[in-house]
Amino acid sequence: MHASRTTLLALLSSACLGLLSQGALAQTPAGSAEAGKGKLAMCIGCHGIEGYRTAYPDVYHVPKIYGQQPAYIVKALQAYRSGERSHPSMRGIAKGLTDADMADLAAYYGGPHK
Ligand code: HEC
Repeated sequence: MHASRTTLLALLSSACLGLLSQGALAQTPAGSAEAGKGKLAMCIGCHGIEGYRTAYPDVYHVPKIYGQQPAYIVKALQAYRSGERSHPSMRGIAKGLTDADMADLAAYYGGPHK
């Protein structure tokens, strides 16, 4: 009896640890640059062009996102999605992205480039 109780406790605590480490993973983007590549089509029109400026809704300099920290990119995208950042084009874009899309795109943009 005593032994199985200990086993149960061990199982429970390892389940908790599992949950904790999953939480930690959600904090640091573990996206796939390869998958991100397939999702770029909707970003490249603005972010792929050196020195590009949007003409709508204002003439606006588009920031360079290549080479930024993946965690920063994910945070920025989440902020657009939540409305914390309010640029209309990026809000529209971010609303259509899942957390996995954001992590993949961040892995691509934040990863090494040629
Ligand atoms: C219609 C043009 C347009 C498209 C399409 C677009 N962006 Fe943006 N993006 C912008 C502009 C303009 C800003 C600057 C907005 C601001 O100042 O808040 C921006 C800002 C960002 C930022 C924040 C950069 C920083 O330095 O803080 C990230 C990250 C970003 N975009 C990622 C993406 C990703 C990923 C996609 C594709 C899913 C995408 N964008 C598609 C125009 C665009």
